[in-house]
Amino acid sequence: MSDINPAPAAERMPIVVLISGGGTNLQALIDDAASVAPYRVVGVISNRPGVRGLERAATAGIPVRVIDHQQFDGRERFDEALANAIDQLAPQLVVLAGFMRILTDRFVQHFDGRMINIHPSLLPAFQGLHTHQRALASGADRHGASVHFVTGELDGGPVIAQAAVAVARDDDADTLAARVLEREHQLLPQVVRWFADGELTLAGEQVMLNGKPLATPVQL
Ligand code: GRF
Repeated sequence: MSDINPAPAAERMPIVVLISGGGTNLQALIDDAASVAPYRVVGVISNRPGVRGLERAATAGIPVRVIDHQQFDGRERFDEALANAIDQLAPQLVVLAGFMRILTDRFVQHFDGRMINIHPSLLPAFQGLHTHQRALASGADRHGASVHFVTGELDGGPVIAQAAVAVARDDDADTLAARVLEREHQLLPQVVRWFADGELTLAGEQVMLNGKPLATPVQL
């Protein structure tokens, strides 16, 4: 891996990143890991072949796998193959970064407390898809992104941290998405750093930061 992080690789927490597309959040993690971050990306798995995120990982010398959900007979079989592929890489954290698949309860249970997701809204507002259009349609003056632990409820797990942007009068879904994405690239590496430093854990459904229960998501 072409990284210049001075910490010995063995001392940095191994993470696996799951993607479905462009992988700009993955790139933010790759760049952060190449600096002094306490983690390293040991594998990238995409459920879609040919996506830009796979090229980003390959360029950084990170092992990649494609597990194409279309080749599987049902969600359970796909999730089983995915879980096996992740386990082979032995990560301590799984990061869903633009990974566009609904996961089975069994999969989610298997990675309980060690899987996070970045979602482009200020959760609990706008779970699911088309968050930027929906934020504009609602007339909200703030929008943003959240990082949360993954539980069985889609985009419903305990939120760790959020980054907000002001909605401008002339925003459309694309301009708003671009501004939110810029903030995602700071938000996600920060949360992964907390986890890798042992500052962030999940106790049942409760997010713990620095040994204390987190009452409301950290606003970055
Ligand atoms: C991001 O907004 C992410 O939160 C969402 O997909 C978008 C694309 O991300 N789930 P990326 O460029 O593939 O990281």
